[in-house]
Amino acid sequence: ALVNMVDMLNKAKEEHYAVAQLNINNLEWTQAVLEAAQAENSPVILGVSEGAGKYMGGPEVVVPMVKALIENMEITVPVAIHLDHGSSFDACKRAIDAGYTSVMIDKSHFPLEENIEMTKDVVEYAHERGVSVEGEIGTVGGTEDGVTGGIKYADPEECQRLVTEAGVDALAAALGSVHGPYQGEPVLGFDEMKEISELTGAPLVLHGGSGIPLEQVQKAIDRGHAKINVNTELQQVWTAAVREKLNNDSDVYDPRKVIGPGKEAIVKTARETLRNFGSSNKA
Ligand code: G3H
Ligand code: ZN
Repeated sequence: ALVNMVDMLNKAKEEHYAVAQLNINNLEWTQAVLEAAQAENSPVILGVSEGAGKYMGGPEVVVPMVKALIENMEITVPVAIHLDHGSSFDACKRAIDAGYTSVMIDKSHFPLEENIEMTKDVVEYAHERGVSVEGEIGTVGGTEDGVTGGIKYADPEECQRLVTEAGVDALAAALGSVHGPYQGEPVLGFDEMKEISELTGAPLVLHGGSGIPLEQVQKAIDRGHAKINVNTELQQVWTAAVREKLNNDSDVYDPRKVIGPGKEAIVKTARETLRNFGSSNKA
């Protein structure tokens, strides 16, 4: 069933697991993620960056595709379609109007007052339509879809103000995580996580979920994270599987056979991820 993130994340926070946001890029990718969630009897959030949405033909293409797959694949677990790192009110509005059930408005690189104002506008429009909203404070390191930044830790007071004044349903408080591969071990601000979680009461979102060792994932969940975003790792396993197929089969030309192993790799990795985050059998 297509739902927003509110109940999913509140349940996850209460029961101490995290819902995975798994980013999608095309039809097969979406099939793979839905198949994995259903097989694990787990809720899932389909993450769609603005770039990936555009790649698939726009939000107006993404939503009917996902709805038809949910129907034809007989998907019964809770599924949210979430705009990842929405850059503007207009991008969020377009996603909401097309039928996304959740959006992120990322104005973390603006001064706090502006972040609050712009996030609040999105929250008003979204909540009137039953759509959940994620906001961000601080800066996630690395690059994702052209969004680049150095690490800047979220300030607890600022987090509290964004939650209470803008009314977001989930908070991405950047505390050392990085988009894309980590250079060495991640250094996450676990004390700050706990502080921000207690101060805001909001379900926290961990961006840059690819490559974080399992014990650190567990600590982040213990300290208030109810949503963890994974994009890069799925891209890596997809590409490795397709590359292996092409390297080992010089006769193949049917595109379904070329990229088929990529889809299988996503199903496998997505299932492991859902299990690691503790959301299996929590649908
Ligand atoms: O918003 C998306 C996530 O933060 C993805 O991060 O590509 O490092 O897994 P990742
Ligand atoms: Zn992110």
